Amino acid sequence: MAQQRKLYIETYGCQMNVNDTEVIFSILARHGYARTERMDEADVIMANTCSVRDNAEQRIWGRIEVFNQQKKARPDVVIGILGCMAERLKDQLLETRKVDLVAGPDAYRSLPDMLAAVRPDSPQINVILSRDETYADISPVRTDRSGVSAFISIMRGCNNVCSYCVVPYTRGVERSRDPRTIVREACEVFANGYKEVTLLGQNVDSYLWKEEGLPDVTFADLLERVAQISPRLRVRFATSNPQDISDAVLETMARHDNICKHIHLPVQSGSDRILGKMRRRYTREWYLQRVARIRELMPGCGLTTDVIAGFCSETEEDHAQTLSLMEEVGFDTAFMFQYSERPGTIAARKYPDDVDPATKTRRLNEIIALQNRKSLESYRADVGKRFTVLVEGPSKRNPAELCGRASNNKMCVFPQRSSVPGNDGHLQGEGTLPCRMHSARQGVLSLHPAREGALALPPLKPGDYVEVEVVDCTSATLLARLV
Ligand code: SAH
Ligand code: SF4
Ligand code: F3S
Repeated sequence: MAQQRKLYIETYGCQMNVNDTEVIFSILARHGYARTERMDEADVIMANTCSVRDNAEQRIWGRIEVFNQQKKARPDVVIGILGCMAERLKDQLLETRKVDLVAGPDAYRSLPDMLAAVRPDSPQINVILSRDETYADISPVRTDRSGVSAFISIMRGCNNVCSYCVVPYTRGVERSRDPRTIVREACEVFANGYKEVTLLGQNVDSYLWKEEGLPDVTFADLLERVAQISPRLRVRFATSNPQDISDAVLETMARHDNICKHIHLPVQSGSDRILGKMRRRYTREWYLQRVARIRELMPGCGLTTDVIAGFCSETEEDHAQTLSLMEEVGFDTAFMFQYSERPGTIAARKYPDDVDPATKTRRLNEIIALQNRKSLESYRADVGKRFTVLVEGPSKRNPAELCGRASNNKMCVFPQRSSVPGNDGHLQGEGTLPCRMHSARQGVLSLHPAREGALALPPLKPGDYVEVEVVDCTSATLLARLV
């Protein structure tokens, strides 16, 4: 067999891109390409790109320069641009003469042939969008480090055409993937030791599989099937669209403990006038009703959102409505952006980008300040509560501690199980109830974490489930102890 070529891919953008990179590694592995994490030893250097905002694209232009420095030293290196920016800019990327290969999101099956055909005077491009490609038969090569949580794309594309958004142009029409291949993939990752799957789509609630002679499969049905694989497999999903999230989905979530109680529900704006111009097909009132229903069916359900500041014609009054909606809902966290005009979108064609940059920045800062306050409130409300956490690995801040998410998606940091009998000193001085007192009060020695250590319970490892009690927090992390 010919010597393996080394493939290096940088991934930008959303979780779907992360999963697409895993699909690309899988396709190219079958053709003799081995993954490397070192650009300086790679034969092929690629970026899987995002076009959602201008700064996402500017970053890629910078990376293309960096890739070309590699090519100066090693002229045989092949440089490829994949994903949404490849789709949007097409041969404009080749015209720079700094890129050898351009492939859009539906063209990854052709990568082996394209790479084989690349020559200095013959760059390759395939940006054809498909009506049916879902890469359903391809088992992605998992690139996450912990081996705990896997992404599974359940659909591709988007039919919504929100006026600000480039995604329908870069990813094409919406298509759902055969549910049997989704369940099979979830079973495979569970068998390989993963404990959590996140089902991905731009608008998961419009997932629909139709097949002659069989009943339609909706997103609620799909969730049910994946949840039934094992109570030890957690199920998450993103992204929900407020206009489409149904009671059936909420009821399915409520029925299954292993479907995590967290919904990412991008609101974008709190003003009906702006929502209308954005072509979001819901109103402020509808959004608030959906939130009320979520909280009624699942008290304590995590709720996060996306917000855009300074969309075309946004007034101070519209902006105030966004702030008041955020105040009213109290999201746990939010992704907050300044509006960035994307060429070719409906907004770019129809509406002037007329909120001046300084005003956009000021409004965004007000939105961020409000959200920081609400995040702290939301995290504080969990102090004293107990959660089951799925251990992901060492905490980033303090590698001696562990981190993992509660069902509501909040990150928890907590100590490793102590293996030295009586060594629970790390909990003291943090204003917490020392474990020793706790166990003495309970009068049950086996509940004592340190004693558990003494009974030689193994240290916690990624993929374990553990019970914790929250003792403190920041606005982004719950600080907890083992119970
Ligand atoms: N499918 C998801 C969002 C995909 S894009 C949904 O419908 O909610 C992720 C987020 O990027 C969006 O929710 C939006 O807040 C933001 N975004 C998209 N286009 C943008 C633009 N032109 N300028 C600023 N933010 C944008
Ligand atoms: Fe973009 Fe709207 Fe589709 Fe989300 S639903 S990807 S914001 S067009
Ligand atoms: Fe970006 Fe494409 Fe995802 S534009 S957000 S990578 S779908």
